[in-house]
Formats: sequence, C-alpha cells, structure tokens
Amino acid sequence: MKLFVTCIAWVESILNKEIERLKYKILKTSDRYVYCETDDAWIARVNLWSRVGNKVHLELNSWIVNNFDDLFELVSEINWKDYVDSSNPIIVNAVSIKSWLDSIPAIQKTSKKAIVTKITGSKDEYLFEDTNLQPREILIFIEDNECRVLLNTSWEALHKRWYRTSEHEAPIKESLGAALVLLSGWSYKKPLYDFFCWSGTIAIEAALISRNIAPGSLWRKFAFEDFGWYPATHLEEAKKEAEAKSFKDKKYEIIASDIDAYNVDMAKKNAENAWVSDTIKFEMKDFSAYLWAKKLEGTVVSNPPYWLRLDSNNLDKIYKDLAKIFNNNPDLNWGFITSYFDFDNMVNLDPWKKRKLYNWNEKCYFYKKV
Ligand SMILES: C[S@@+](CC[C@H](N)C(=O)[O-])C[C@H]1O[C@@H](n2cnc3c(N)ncnc32)[C@H](O)[C@@H]1O
Repeated sequence: MKLFVTCIAWVESILNKEIERLKYKILKTSDRYVYCETDDAWIARVNLWSRVGNKVHLELNSWIVNNFDDLFELVSEINWKDYVDSSNPIIVNAVSIKSWLDSIPAIQKTSKKAIVTKITGSKDEYLFEDTNLQPREILIFIEDNECRVLLNTSWEALHKRWYRTSEHEAPIKESLGAALVLLSGWSYKKPLYDFFCWSGTIAIEAALISRNIAPGSLWRKFAFEDFGWYPATHLEEAKKEAEAKSFKDKKYEIIASDIDAYNVDMAKKNAENAWVSDTIKFEMKDFSAYLWAKKLEGTVVSNPPYWLRLDSNNLDKIYKDLAKIFNNNPDLNWGFITSYFDFDNMVNLDPWKKRKLYNWNEKCYFYKKV
C-alpha cells in the first residue's frame, strides 16, 4: 500500500521525519509531498499523528501517461466500485509538473469520464451524485509523465484540527504553527513564549507536541471512516494507542500573550477545545514589557504583526524592540515568522538564519537564532 502525503512548501523535511518515526518506508520526498509505503492499518495512524501534513492519499494506480488515451486507460483499470459507493459525489483534482499532459481541466474531465464509465459500464451513462453524501476526492498527480491516481483519505486538510472556534483575519495554519515549534529547537525543559498569540495556534501546537497528543485525535473526522472497505478497528486501535502515548502529568511552561484582551480570550477558548488549557499560561500583555527582562531563558516562537493597520514606523519599532529583547537575553533562543522583510536590514543581532515558508499563500521567512 502506497501513500502520498502532501504538505505546504518548505516543510517536507519535517514531514519526512514524522513519517520515518511512524516506521513507514519512504520512497520519495519532493516538492510538497512525501511518498511512502506501508500497510493499511497505517492510514489511520498517519492521519492521526501528522502535525505538518496536509492530506494523506492512497495510491490506487500509477504508470507513465503520454496522452489522454493512456490516462483514460490507467484510471479505468481501477475497480471504482470498491472506492465509490453508488452515489457519492466524485471530485477530481489534478496537478501536472513537467509532463506532456498539462491541461488541468482536460486531465480532470478525462479522469472523471473514465471513472463514470467504469462504474456505469457505458460511456454515455450519467452518474447520479447525491450531494448529501461525503464526496470522494481523487487527485491525479502527474510528474515527469508518471501519473498517480490518488484517493484522499483525510477528507478536509489535516491542518484543520477543529479547536479554533472563530477564524479571524490572520491565523497561521495549525500545521505551520506545529512546524515552527519543531523548527525552533525548543527543548521542552525551558519555557516557550509566544508574545503575539492571537488565536493561540503556536502555543496550542506546542502543548500538543510536548504532551505527545496526536493532533488528529481531537475533533476530526476522516474520509476513510466512511470507506466501507476500511476496518473501523484500525482507527479505534490507533486512537487507543495515541491515548496511551500522550503524557498526562508532565509539566511544561508555555506562555502565550497578546496586547488585545479579546484575542487572549479567544486563545483560551481554543486551548480549552484542544484540551490543553492547563498546559498554557495566557496573559494580556504588551510584549514591550519584556524590554526590561534580563534573564529570560527558553524559546520565543512567534508571529509578530507585519501588515496593514500598523504603519511602518510602528512596525519598525516592534521589530527593533524584539531585537532588543533578544540581545538583552543571551540565553533566550528565538524564532519568528514574518513577511516584514525589512527586518533583515534593520537590526543588529546574534547570528541567525532565515528559512522560506508560506503562510497560506503569502511568502514569509522564519528567522531563527543559530
Ligand atoms: C499576526 S497576529 C498573530 C496571529 C497568531 N499567530 C495566530 O495564529 O492567531 C499578531 C498579533 O500581535 C498582537 N499585537 C500587536 N501589537 C502587540 C504588542 N505590542 N504586544 C503584544 N501583542 C501585540 C495583535 O493583537 C495580534 O493578535
């Protein structure tokens, strides 16, 4: 059984490690995906445990396609009745990289036609799709003319953990929040600070990581739960195993603050939803209160303001003050994500490096002390 797990750009190496830790055999890691081999019980596990993955797909078939006839044949070889109950809506998405077939709408249309023909037994028949049922999402992924026909086993992207009650303008994806904590080098033994927490994503992900809580075990439903052929016991076992592996009584110090009382309340509510409110200390606080601190230890992981409502003088001040806090506290490790690129030229800091990342579709850098 081969799985194709997608992720946001530039976190592939973290996803690779996650999958290795689950003891899957990695076949390829490339731009925004990890391709691996395992047995079917592990579909549940990777969906439950992946912190930075986007969607977990099961490969149904793969081969070289040089034209649309090849594609039609490849898709038709699959016994679709095994995967699509009579009237599930069928959504076909496609990606094409450096390949002869590069028209996405034509790839989608040909593949859908092949699926419908296989199910109905005729090229002219219409397939009734009941929009009340869960859709089956198929991804046709063609790279260097090698085509993979993939079935989404996750349903909605894994970054949706469902602990955020209300979405606001600038939350980072939960999977990105987890990636930042993992990239920061936080040691768990010392505190983790988020000075600009808003919905609390980074602090909540840090709490889930430190307590070894599988993020998919919180509120999520997965597409595979609706697959008639997939044994329900696999998910039950994976959930039991995850429960046993989580740390119940270890203590961690995670401090999340924000200048806005409403935001702090929202973050508290979200942490309650994720069952980690006892692991995070929330404070309403202007981060500049830390300007007088001299002995801070631990790691700052944060997503400071970078746009719009603040004029650039205010932004400059925030980043200069941040640099002062970092300089005043040599034992403090730090990493923060921003798309305010003036930071590079503005401050004089200990050695740091930056790493490109995307927050939704916006290019950012994660600046990190080395
Ligand atoms: C980009 S948002 C953080 C989003 C957050 N990572 C999330 O996923 O929800 C920046 C936050 O910084 C807060 N903020 C702005 N100025 C601040 C200051 N001086 N001290 C503390 N927080 C501040 C804003 O209220 C806002 O919540």
